[in-house]
Amino acid sequence: MLGTVKYLLGTAGPSGYGSKTTAAEVTEARPDLGSITAVITGATSGIGAETARVLAMRGARLVLPARNLKAAEETRARILAEFPGAKVIVMPLDLSSMASVRGFVARFESLQLPLHLLINNAGKFSHGNAISEDGIEMTFATNYLGHYLLTKLLLEKMEETARVTGIQGRIVNVSSSIHGWFSGDVLRYLDQLNRKKTYVCKNPTRIFPPLTSRFLSLTLPHTYHPSLSSLNYWRHRCCAAPGKFSFPAEKILTLKALPFVTPADGRPYDPTRAYALSKLANVLHTKELADKLKRMGANVTVNCVHPGIVRTRLTRDREGFTTDLAFFLASKLLKTIPQAAATTCYVATHPRVAGVSGRYFADCNETSPSKLAASAQEASRLWLFSEAVTSPSSSPQAATAVDGAVSYLCRLGSETLL
Ligand SMILES: NC(=O)c1ccc[n+]([C@@H]2O[C@H](COP(=O)([O-])OP(=O)(O)OC[C@H]3O[C@@H](n4cnc5c(N)ncnc54)[C@H](OP(=O)(O)O)[C@@H]3O)[C@@H](O)[C@H]2O)c1
Repeated sequence: MLGTVKYLLGTAGPSGYGSKTTAAEVTEARPDLGSITAVITGATSGIGAETARVLAMRGARLVLPARNLKAAEETRARILAEFPGAKVIVMPLDLSSMASVRGFVARFESLQLPLHLLINNAGKFSHGNAISEDGIEMTFATNYLGHYLLTKLLLEKMEETARVTGIQGRIVNVSSSIHGWFSGDVLRYLDQLNRKKTYVCKNPTRIFPPLTSRFLSLTLPHTYHPSLSSLNYWRHRCCAAPGKFSFPAEKILTLKALPFVTPADGRPYDPTRAYALSKLANVLHTKELADKLKRMGANVTVNCVHPGIVRTRLTRDREGFTTDLAFFLASKLLKTIPQAAATTCYVATHPRVAGVSGRYFADCNETSPSKLAASAQEASRLWLFSEAVTSPSSSPQAATAVDGAVSYLCRLGSETLL
């Protein structure tokens, strides 16, 4: 109760900041970031765009990986219009694809830039149970696994930069307080989400493996060159109302698809639970990585944040009266976007956070994550799973690797792993 009152009033916590502090305000403590190079995912809108704007205002060189390059170029143009000397590089990255993450890292390395700051901010709230091209539930693949792999592949560069420049590297994982809504066994639930898979290949004339359930066909104009995500989009539209969506066809592409995947326990896909799982994974990742960095003696820290609740494009799949009403009713609890970017910027730049690692922050102050998120056992299991799934040897058959790793880890049980 007292916490809610403090939140509503914006009362400052031990850091001197509170829920109403903005990103621009927290960075006043470190006004010159001219020596810093930062990678920020998900900077095309919402919290990430504001984080990028404020770090650019303080002089940081930004690398903005994005799946939507047009939107990223618009972000870059907006920043340059406001800060003409800003250094902003846009590069392609789809976090839901391990191949795309590897491609981004290869391109980034070819630029031979240092890397001081990695902000894993991108996120999605997937309304239906889509499956990534690697055979993994889409929200988990985007919010957690893509960031896990990105961090893993950039870590050497961050360590090297910290060694050469003497500036401590920082990794910020953007989680959510909703991580506390997930209870149960992380890997078992993920297994349930993945078990009934839908495979949609990039070349829509080839679908593999042969699907057994309901087949749907979709007619598309020949000018339409679908990306994997748009195929998934149409699959969902089509599944929601079969037969309703079709185009005047010059060329027919047949998209075979399963309807929304039902987890093996028979319960329908729960998008909120899947989102909470992915955000819990962000916290567990932070915990395990912090331990590993410490043991390695790397001058790099990792922390995670809850930015606060703010209306952004995150709810784009759920626009409508109900969402409007929910945001209206919660309006007193909502932050503005500059306020929502504050905790990320605080953890990324503030001198008070130097040397602090493995912690969870909200409203620019350290706080406790859920009991499950604080479990060293869960963090270790998730790490082992993530290693197995993202190891290059498993990538050609990642879906099989996911199955193998999950059932292997579930069989072993957590005690054996520790
Ligand atoms: N808004 C809230 O109330 C709230 C609360 C707690 C936590 N968060 C977290 O805050 C972070 C930022 O969210 P937001 O509210 O600012 O949402 P947003 O406006 O929807 O921004 C999400 C960003 O992630 C990018 N993204 C999504 N999928 C991607 C993919 N596969 N590959 C690369 N980039 C991808 C989006 O790019 P596109 O332009 O390509 O879509 C966009 O730039 C997320 O991690 C979210 O979970 C938000």
